[in-house]
Amino acid sequence: MAPKVLITGVAGFIGSNLADRLLQKGYKVVGVDNLAYGVEEQIPEGVDFHKMDIRDRAVYPLFHDIDYVFHLAAKNCISDCQLDPVETADINVRGTVNIFEAAKRAKVKKVIYAESSALYEGSNTLPTPETDVKPESFYAISKFSSMYFAEGYARFFNLKTTALRYFCVYGPRQDYRRTIPPVFSAFIIKLLKGEQPTIYGTGEKRRDFIHVDDVNDFHEMCITDDRTTGKVFNLGSGTNYSVNEIYSMIASLLGSSVKPVYKPDLPGEAFANLADISLAKSLGWRPRISLKEGLQTSIEFIKGELAKGKIP
Ligand SMILES: NC(=O)c1ccc[n+]([C@@H]2O[C@H](COP(=O)([O-])OP(=O)(O)OC[C@H]3O[C@@H](n4cnc5c(N)ncnc54)[C@H](O)[C@@H]3O)[C@@H](O)[C@H]2O)c1
Repeated sequence: MAPKVLITGVAGFIGSNLADRLLQKGYKVVGVDNLAYGVEEQIPEGVDFHKMDIRDRAVYPLFHDIDYVFHLAAKNCISDCQLDPVETADINVRGTVNIFEAAKRAKVKKVIYAESSALYEGSNTLPTPETDVKPESFYAISKFSSMYFAEGYARFFNLKTTALRYFCVYGPRQDYRRTIPPVFSAFIIKLLKGEQPTIYGTGEKRRDFIHVDDVNDFHEMCITDDRTTGKVFNLGSGTNYSVNEIYSMIASLLGSSVKPVYKPDLPGEAFANLADISLAKSLGWRPRISLKEGLQTSIEFIKGELAKGKIP
């Protein structure tokens, strides 16, 4: 019988892409999301969807017969988390513990859960290995706390987990609705509309971008390869690009000569991030999508959203 997987945050960017991949591979997929930030219509057909909150104990019965859990639901906009540390802790810590508890009670085989490269905010080591954790923002602190709960559930209840520290994941369905959208979506939307995109700061900040399909390759390995159990993995490309470089690449792919507007820097953002991906690579995983190829998938997605009239 096909393994059954439960995804929290299934209406979000990474969750909906993961659901697509797992359905294609023949897995049964149960999805949970409270639609706080997610979009119901992007949940792939075939997902047994439940509009529920991860903090609610009413989710427990959904875990019956589940083999693997991907816990991706979170409050994850760093600036929103700074404004409301209480809700950040409530969703990202209490909600995560509730999911570990549900998984423990149902005796699921493993919980794969999302941490973040934000855990390296205070680190000066580039590329950053998994060991160099220095969280600063409330978002990062909330993800850090979940890690300790995962360790507690492993120690006291034998719950198997794998933690994933995503760097800047991009691709179709990346959320463009935020007040300050991720750079890819922001640049593509503005340039397609013939408007000037905004770059905060000098544009020299560097980020490690990884395509969601590459991330999904590793997600699959978390199910099939037991060497991933009990470990934490960085998921990035191992290369970083400046915001100015990204801008030029997108402008060139769109044939645009529009120049960006530079505005004062956003507070609290690290100057650079870069993943040390040797641990994930040691298991045979490799990022396979080049930035140029990946950007094309983001462009096609945004073009589709514009054509459907979804972006004002
Ligand atoms: N996208 C990235 O580059 C990135 C980088 C680092 C870490 N992460 C982590 O990966 C995970 C997925 O990120 P994403 O980019 O897909 O985010 P997303 O915002 O697109 O998806 C998160 C989903 O969680 C849902 N959600 C939020 N609170 C909930 C609650 N209380 N109960 C039920 N559902 C709830 C939202 O409605 C949304 O659909 C998150 O945990 C995030 O912190 C993402």
